[in-house]
Amino acid sequence: MSIHDLPPQAVVIFGASGDLTKRKLIPAFYHLFLEGLLPKGFAIVGYSRTELSDREFREHAREAVKRFGRREPSGEVWRDFAQHLSYLPGEFSDEGAMNHLVKHLESIDRRRGTAGGRFFYAATPPAAYPDIVHRIADAHLQPGAKIVFEKPFGRDLRTARELNDTIHEVFDESQVFRIDHYLGKETVQNVLVLRFANGMFEPIWNRRYIDHVQITVAEDIGVEDRGVFYEQTGAIRDMVSTHLFQVMTFLAMEPPVSFEPDRLRDETVKVLRATMVCDPDRTVRGQYRGYRDEPGVSDESTVETYAALELEVDNWRWAGVPFYLRTGKRLARKASEITLKFRKVPFNVFRGTDLDLPKRDHLTIRIQPNEGVTLALNAKRPGPGLELGRVTMDFDYEREFQAEIVDSYELLLLEALEGDHTLFLREDAVERAWEVLDDVLSRPSPVVPYDPGTWGPPEADALIAPRRWHVASLDHPG
Ligand code: BG6
Repeated sequence: MSIHDLPPQAVVIFGASGDLTKRKLIPAFYHLFLEGLLPKGFAIVGYSRTELSDREFREHAREAVKRFGRREPSGEVWRDFAQHLSYLPGEFSDEGAMNHLVKHLESIDRRRGTAGGRFFYAATPPAAYPDIVHRIADAHLQPGAKIVFEKPFGRDLRTARELNDTIHEVFDESQVFRIDHYLGKETVQNVLVLRFANGMFEPIWNRRYIDHVQITVAEDIGVEDRGVFYEQTGAIRDMVSTHLFQVMTFLAMEPPVSFEPDRLRDETVKVLRATMVCDPDRTVRGQYRGYRDEPGVSDESTVETYAALELEVDNWRWAGVPFYLRTGKRLARKASEITLKFRKVPFNVFRGTDLDLPKRDHLTIRIQPNEGVTLALNAKRPGPGLELGRVTMDFDYEREFQAEIVDSYELLLLEALEGDHTLFLREDAVERAWEVLDDVLSRPSPVVPYDPGTWGPPEADALIAPRRWHVASLDHPG
């Protein structure tokens, strides 16, 4: 299906007065509208408990685009877009609470040509998901609809299973889109292109040539105004079970037989199935100094704002190759990247010369910022004798394509409107991810402090030793 064939649909955002709607969803829909990518019959209905008029909702939306968007909300185009927005205050918990939404949607169908197409987006705290699903069912709005759920999908294996069961009482899996915005990042999708559209990488993408893999998602910001959320979540649930695992599955999966959604998702699930349940002793949980003073955070909190883990993907391709994952807030800089360190050369032909044993070569994929790919190699420095230099071969998105990297929500919303599941998580992937982290969550290792502005606690260096963490963006300071 091409984007021009997108079926007409009315988007209902539950939690429309919340942060995600403001920061991501409204700006993303506006940009898609500007690009002419939304279907002709289209509307957005904001739904949440807050009392707002259509006019107030449109004004909030304009402010959101102004603050978080890439383009100014002005002139004729904004006025046109705003006409597609309406708002309905409503409850989630009371039986039949969404019955009034039916009438509203029918009137939208008449005015906006949305032709009965329904696209629900659950942008609320996950605790509200079961109520949302049941209220949609009370109003009988589910037939033919799509529904998007934000992460986290539960808080462990048991709750994820319960949530999936609840969702399936009303929706078929083919109607469900579990979103993880990392899969909407160009650079994460490019992992598949790099691997499967080039002949040179795949033959060495395995235990024979790769010593270990590192995935870092470092942030320089703290928990900001999300202290209450973080206290219930922590870095393992917020980042590892979702973003870092998705990146790992793209890196480690076998070539799918085709790019059809379920063929690709079969392969990502296989990686998770092959991943051994993570040992709490091979995990480091850190907390930045000052976290306990953040609003909404307990002064005795043991919640982690940093996590480093060693994982084993126990299959033919990866047996014996450790995967090191780390993520944290208030680290030295914002940098998400993947590094594959290649094995040392099997024999040093330069022994007996002045040359030190060469360092390992490695491939680094910069997810963000300075999006690109770097191959770091050893080379002979020009001049007499044999002296080593470290050189890089570098691909930089901005330089090569001169294209702006769009926000991942834009791309994912478009895919979901199209009904394409490729970049959305299937229930079995979500459940297996929790299973891998089950011991770590139920028997957490003690939390250790680290100083803001560093690369996390020293215990994480011990976890990876004798190897060392690849210092983010070392080869490309940006
Ligand atoms: C979100 C997490 O999913 O991802 C946040 O809830 C985190 O805690 C954010 O800050 C990071 O996303 P990005 O795209 O900035 O790396």
